[in-house]
Amino acid sequence: MSDDRTEVNYGSYLALNELLGLQRPRSPHPDELLFIVVHQASELWFKEILHELDLLIDAFSRHEAEFALFHMGRINALMRIVSAQLSALETLPPQHFAEFRRHLGTSSGSQSVQFRAIEAVSGLREPHFIQVLQEHGPIPDLVQRALARPALQDYFLDLLKAHETELEALYTGERPSTLFFLAEALLEYEQQFGQWRFAHVQLVERVLGPHTGGTGGTLGAKYLSRTIDQKFFPALWAVRARFYGSAG
Ligand code: HEM
Repeated sequence: MSDDRTEVNYGSYLALNELLGLQRPRSPHPDELLFIVVHQASELWFKEILHELDLLIDAFSRHEAEFALFHMGRINALMRIVSAQLSALETLPPQHFAEFRRHLGTSSGSQSVQFRAIEAVSGLREPHFIQVLQEHGPIPDLVQRALARPALQDYFLDLLKAHETELEALYTGERPSTLFFLAEALLEYEQQFGQWRFAHVQLVERVLGPHTGGTGGTLGAKYLSRTIDQKFFPALWAVRARFYGSAG
C-alpha cells in the first residue's frame, strides 16, 4: 500500500487551485461572481446526483430494495440543497443583472447537459421534453445514454415484480413495508424536483419579470411554468387516485 499522506494536503486533495481559478466574471459587476458560483455549484451537485442515480439503478438491477432506499435518501437530500441554493440569487436585483446579462451571450441553463441527463435518467419521456432536447442540435452522449435506459419507474416496477408484489398492494398492506417507503421516497424525489422547478420559475420572474424572454430563446418564465407538470413517476401518482374511485 502506498503512503502518500506526506504529499497530499487540503489544497492538493481538493484541487483548489484549479477549482478556485474557474470563476471568471466577464463584466466588472460585483454580483456576477455570485451568479457564476451558484451555477457552478449547482452543476457540481448535478454531477453527484447523476452518480447517485447510477448507484440507485445498480441497486434496482440487483433487486436490492434497502440499498435503493439508501440512495434515494441521499438523492433527496441533494435535491433540497440544489433548491436552497437558488435563494442566494434572489438577492440579485434586476437592475444589477441587467448590467451584466449581455455578457452571457446566448448561454442558458437550458443547455445544461447534466440537468437534461438527470431528467432523462429519472424517466422523462414526454414529447415536449424530447422536442426541447432536439432544438439544441445533436443530443449529447450523456443524455443519449440516459434515454436508452429504462425509466426509473420501470426499474421500480420491475423490483416489485421480483418481490412478487404490485404497486397497489404497497398502499393496502397492514403495515408499511420497505417497498412502500421506497415508493414514497421516489415520490418525494419527484416533489423535490418540482420544487426546484417552481423555485427557479419564481427566481426568473423576480429577476427578469414574468414576460421577459430568456437568453436561451424561450418565453422565459412562461415557458418554464409549463415544465412544472412534467412527471417522472405517473404510476405513483395514479395509484393514489384509486382509493377515491377515480381510477381513470
Ligand atoms: C438569475 C438567475 C437565473 C435566471 C434569470 C434564469 C433564467 C432562465 C430562463 C429564462 C430559462 C429558460 C430558457 C431560456 O430561454 O434561457 C432558464 C432555464 C434553465 N435554467 Fe435558469 N436562470 C437562473 C438561474 C439558474 C440557476 C442557478 C440554475 C442552476 C443550474 C439554472 C438552471 C436552468 C436550467 C436547468 C434550465 C432549463 C429548465 C427547463 O428547460 O426545464 N438557472 N433559466
